[in-house]
Amino acid sequence: MWEDRYRASDDYLFGTAPAAILPDNPWLVRQGASALCVADGEGRNSVYLAMQGMQVTSFDPSPTAVKRAQHLARDAGVVVNTHVADWDGWDWTQQYDMVAGIFIQFAGPDFRERQFADMQSALRPGGRILLHGYRPEQVGRGTGGPPNVENMYTEALLRDAFAGWTIERCCAYEKDQRAGSGHVGQAALIDFVARKP
Ligand SMILES: C[S@@+](CC[C@H](N)C(=O)[O-])C[C@H]1O[C@@H](n2cnc3c(N)ncnc32)[C@H](O)[C@@H]1O
Repeated sequence: MWEDRYRASDDYLFGTAPAAILPDNPWLVRQGASALCVADGEGRNSVYLAMQGMQVTSFDPSPTAVKRAQHLARDAGVVVNTHVADWDGWDWTQQYDMVAGIFIQFAGPDFRERQFADMQSALRPGGRILLHGYRPEQVGRGTGGPPNVENMYTEALLRDAFAGWTIERCCAYEKDQRAGSGHVGQAALIDFVARKP
């Protein structure tokens, strides 16, 4: 489905600017540190982190999206270690300083539990997980995200999923998004950043 969506247009579906959580929180960047961007789509977030000096690896199952990510990196003069891979095809034993999951709410509750466990295992101790997505209030707005309320994040859900971690940011807010044609309009968002014990 996602490959079809990306192929339907020559434009970057979510634009080329990073999701707001990254430029709005520059403290997330550590020069030279490693980052994994999961389900990274067309590379807007991985390329931004590479431009800030991080060593970035990314994957997405859509070959069209990954090709666009490679073009974006080349145009920006940075290197992103891109891969065409599905979630279950990724080697989750490789560890990173940061793992970023930005708009990865294609997962319902069972898959999400596995998603979070996989992302945890891909973090070195002290490493940072970053999640950015939609809250239940987003469903029905038609400004982005899946229609499934059970796929949405709440502060309680995320705090519970990462109990025992050091929470650095857990913030629910409203924002007018302008990201390509995929995310356009007022959105109910949530940011979550925590460090693995
Ligand atoms: C809403 S897009 C977000 C893309 C990117 N993170 C961004 O913020 O621009 C969701 C992405 O999840 C990817 N995706 C969907 N199912 C997946 C799966 N089973 N494993 C890995 N990625 C998947 C899609 O290909 C798509 O690029």
